Amino acid sequence: METIIGQDIQQAAALLRAGEVVGIPTETVYGLAGNALNDSAIAKIFAVKNRPYFDPLIIHVAHAGAIGHWVQQIPQPLEQLAQAFLPGPLTLLLPKKQVIPDLVTAGLPRVAVRVPGHPLTRELLSRLDFPLAAPSANPFGYISPTQAMHVVEQLGGKIPFVLDGGPCQVGVESTIVSYEEEQIVILRKGGLTIEQIEAVVGPVVVKAHSTSHPAAPGMLKSHYAPRKPLRLLEREAIDGQLWTARTALLLFQKAVPSATVQMALSPGGHLEEAARHLFAYLRALDALDIDEIVAEILPERGLGRAINDRLRRAAV
Ligand code: TXA
Ligand code: MG
Repeated sequence: METIIGQDIQQAAALLRAGEVVGIPTETVYGLAGNALNDSAIAKIFAVKNRPYFDPLIIHVAHAGAIGHWVQQIPQPLEQLAQAFLPGPLTLLLPKKQVIPDLVTAGLPRVAVRVPGHPLTRELLSRLDFPLAAPSANPFGYISPTQAMHVVEQLGGKIPFVLDGGPCQVGVESTIVSYEEEQIVILRKGGLTIEQIEAVVGPVVVKAHSTSHPAAPGMLKSHYAPRKPLRLLEREAIDGQLWTARTALLLFQKAVPSATVQMALSPGGHLEEAARHLFAYLRALDALDIDEIVAEILPERGLGRAINDRLRRAAV
């Protein structure tokens, strides 16, 4: 199959209506989208990604008002978050209506829903009369794509079309949130920060830990991983060693004068910029002739938490 890259929303919509799967841009990462109400389109998503069926998919809708079509109810605190942050990098876990296939939710009673903030994909969604199920458009377990070319590099030949919306502006996946026992629970740290969420609804519980069997969101311990071994170190430990050209350093801000192979996520020290660059830089380092990647642990605040989470899951 030839994979076409383009900006033609009509073409993407026609393919999706025909039950095909298509790469789509979002503000977080690129998704591999299919009709969420069509079992055979959903099966294609799992097959193309080589993803196990027990790992459920997020559905994408055009605007917050459309969420109610697909779920039984929205608890008030999550409604508050929806009003404050959608469209944006926030996914809500809600009790599904029966029309959502069990294949989408891996048989679970709740469905993950989000309203992506990318204009091309919002326009695409507004032309469709079904939601789009879309996991990140990478082979299962590998680094998520943040540019159309990343999707083509890995899934080219397996899908007919990638809608090119340029580089993703956020760069890490959405924050997944549920409401359990009267508390807002963060199930995956992501592009919407805990600080932003708490500013609206007060203190939340973070349960975004690793499990080997994700009854809770995609929290497989080994995930988002490059092919080369990756180690995480505090900055002091990095500065205290001599690095050969066999090790690639992924740094936050400052360069290491003695090291030959290194990339800084944000020379100005901005966590937003670091998140935007994270996956593309990991890919670039992974492609080099090196033995290992050593990544610096970022400050554990704001988007630094989501970045550190991805680096920890990528680490051996
Ligand atoms: O930013 C994002 O969320 C991107 C873009 C493409 O929208 N999507 C994304 O999808 O990251 P994915 O499939 O790579 O990760 C979604 C995670 C999965 O690991 C899954 O375990 C969890 O969300 N999830 C989805 N539905 C769930 C459900 N019903 N119950 C529990 N966890 C769920
Ligand atoms: Mg993913």
